[in-house]
Amino acid sequence: MSEVLDFFSKRRSVTAKRMSEGNVLEEHLQLILNAGLRVPDHGGVKPWKISVIKGQRRKIFDEKIILNEFLKDNNNASEELIKMESSRFQRAHTVIAILSTPELDHKIPEWEQVLSAGAVCTTILYAAQALGYAAQWVTEWYAYNKNIIEELGGDPMKDKIAGFIYIGSKNKDPKERTRPNKDDYVSYY
Ligand SMILES: Cc1cc2nc3c(=O)[nH]c(=O)nc-3n(C[C@H](O)[C@H](O)[C@H](O)COP(=O)(O)O)c2cc1C
Repeated sequence: MSEVLDFFSKRRSVTAKRMSEGNVLEEHLQLILNAGLRVPDHGGVKPWKISVIKGQRRKIFDEKIILNEFLKDNNNASEELIKMESSRFQRAHTVIAILSTPELDHKIPEWEQVLSAGAVCTTILYAAQALGYAAQWVTEWYAYNKNIIEELGGDPMKDKIAGFIYIGSKNKDPKERTRPNKDDYVSYY
């Protein structure tokens, strides 16, 4: 089997909760981003934006943006919840936000442009995992917050956060999870 297929048949995500920060090398980050930008993209619309949050910026984003948005709807939150909401991005070394930024009224249907943003997410996820990092595709509540979309450079009227790819280091290899039974999802017409 090719090494690539071997990787695809075994890869697993490590949840943000279970990863530790570790260190994502700058040269690896660039490889991951380059891979993410090579996705299929009908018509070359490039209907996505990528924002990298790492280093001190994670703490700033956590405390000034995520926590602030959280408290608007939860002003009686417990200390425990405040701690969680003010440290979300700091679970990883690097968080890559992928926004779906479709061009509306374009000859390429919006649906296809959205799919391309999903492809950016999977490609970035797989590239990070191929380099041996712990990585997970996460949305959580803050992906659906209009101020957060705007903070990351999106237009909240039409853009969406396709995902945050959390990248850190593995504490241990994750156990396999139940995978779909092929016969239930694949048929031959
Ligand atoms: C669009 C999208 C959003 C997701 N958001 C979350 C999330 O917010 N929290 C979570 O625990 N898992 C989320 N997941 C699931 C995990 O990223 C992942 O699919 C799951 O842990 C199994 O990973 P694996 O099949 O890559 O091993 C999301 C998956 C997708 C496709």
